[in-house]
Amino acid sequence: MSRPKVFVTQRFFPEALDLLRQKAEVEGGVADEPLSREELLSAVSDIDGLLTLLVNRIDREIIDRANRLKIIANCAVGYDNIDVAYCREKGILVTNTPGVLTEATADLTWALILAVARKIPQADRYTRQGLFRGWQLDLFLGQEIYGQNLGIIGFGRIGRAVARRALGFGLKIFYFDPQRLSPEEEAHLQVNYLPLDELLKTADIITIHASLNPSSYHLINREKISLMKKEAILINVARGPIVDEKALAEALKNGQIFGAGLDVYEGEPEIYKELLSLDNVVLLPHIGSATRTTRMKMAMTAVRNLLQGLSGQKPDNLVW
Ligand code: GLV
Repeated sequence: MSRPKVFVTQRFFPEALDLLRQKAEVEGGVADEPLSREELLSAVSDIDGLLTLLVNRIDREIIDRANRLKIIANCAVGYDNIDVAYCREKGILVTNTPGVLTEATADLTWALILAVARKIPQADRYTRQGLFRGWQLDLFLGQEIYGQNLGIIGFGRIGRAVARRALGFGLKIFYFDPQRLSPEEEAHLQVNYLPLDELLKTADIITIHASLNPSSYHLINREKISLMKKEAILINVARGPIVDEKALAEALKNGQIFGAGLDVYEGEPEIYKELLSLDNVVLLPHIGSATRTTRMKMAMTAVRNLLQGLSGQKPDNLVW
């Protein structure tokens, strides 16, 4: 029987490609930049498996072109870049990489919370510029973290890992999720449920860990931002379109909230221009899960899913 043919859309770890090559003919895996639409369309026409990154938009046109495709393995926990419903209709398996990136993403969330609250990037720039002339009582005054209210939007694996860390920082934890936990689970995790509007009014630090879907698109819009406290900090490490970037930029500019930390953007890699000139927002290039260990685990998980699907097994991380 001939070996299945797999296409890898972008540069990938050699260790993971080696594993894939043991069982499949592998093409791609070298491009530094995301493929153009034309390149992707021509690459998928005669393959059995596709290994994607979250920058690859896999829509109907691509899926229709891929008439031999059995499985798409996305190397990410989010899979809003793939038309999963259409894949399902066509019998194409879709997998993601949940679990392995939970702790690294929760760590990065806390890095952003601390960076915004304590003005770390601004203070670093100031120090490098040689402006530090000695201790001052009111130099870079930030926001207190201990004893504050944390509001977590989306209480899945990552939201819960953020909550676990929050206990160590002495915060009171509130969460909003379409699925409320049982009273026993809430007591065990030491968290309190609040409806979204109440959470936005109560929290000093608000952090988003929801998946992107039609019901979470612009979940945080102008009206929701207007409910937040003047000292509030908003963190988004989930998906950009959950926040209306224009409304957020306006609120930050007008001092309506204290600050924001963003790892994701509405039109990635474009960033709403206004945000770039504001000092009260910390901007990162979508590195939530970016530790070597975690990214390697994600790559290996994606390869394992792909090989399982190609060999007729049910992949571990099927999303439908
Ligand atoms: C990163 O954003 C991921 O979905 O894994």
